[in-house]
Amino acid sequence: MTQTKSYTATAKWLHWGMALIWIAAWLVGIVAVHWRDEFNPQHQLTFLHKAMASTLLLLIVLRIAWRLTHAAPAMPDTMTPRLKRAAFIGHLLLYIVALLGLPISGWYWSSVADKPILVAGLFLLPPLVEPDKSLYDLAKAIHTYSAWLCGALVGGHVMVALKHHFIDKDKVLAGMMPGRVE
Ligand code: HEM
Ligand code: HEM
Repeated sequence: MTQTKSYTATAKWLHWGMALIWIAAWLVGIVAVHWRDEFNPQHQLTFLHKAMASTLLLLIVLRIAWRLTHAAPAMPDTMTPRLKRAAFIGHLLLYIVALLGLPISGWYWSSVADKPILVAGLFLLPPLVEPDKSLYDLAKAIHTYSAWLCGALVGGHVMVALKHHFIDKDKVLAGMMPGRVE
């Protein structure tokens, strides 16, 4: 493990690249479902949502491999041990629920519905399970509820990052920004 003051450049590229894809996929998912007649009559937004979001399934493998071999910077001493533990659990939840669980639930839904997923619009993702229309409603509910739960999780994550920067005035956000923090 190599301990650094800020995240490594690779970790920053992965964080911001995946954050951009994640937030865009979330917004497109919402518009696709709730403004279907206005903006998604031919399912073009559903196609875009799946094409974007499915790339996270590949990127997360790289990200976890990088994270396991490159330590995150130490949290500031101004944080209590309890807060540090909460931050660790929060990040773990983002990895497990938002970056792994949610894309897998979308993959599962499309698989039981026997619908294709074109990763980045380029190649087909093989089905995760055999098609089974009787599981459609369950798969849809899992993806929809987790999507809203993750929206709240990510919203909280962004607010905490901003609190570190503007209220606590520590180096947590700077450690994820371009450039090095001493
Ligand atoms: C392999 C990855 C994924 C697939 C195959 C997938 C598939 C789908 C499908 C088919 C829909 C319904 C769209 C429609 O009815 O037109 C949907 C909705 C949605 N998805 Fe995904 N999804 C994936 C990943 C994600 C990710 C990573 C996020 C979060 C960034 C996400 C957030 C949403 C949201 C917010 C909705 C709308 C939920 C609602 O209010 O009903 N999905 N997804
Ligand atoms: C504007 C949006 C965002 C901001 C300002 C932001 C900010 C940050 C900051 C400052 C850190 C470092 C925290 C620390 O060292 O204690 C961090 C880490 C992290 N962020 Fe974000 N983030 C954003 C969006 C996202 C999104 C959309 C996701 C995933 C869905 C995400 C997932 C993560 C994860 C998993 C970590 C932990 C990294 C690690 O230690 O391996 N972030 N973020």
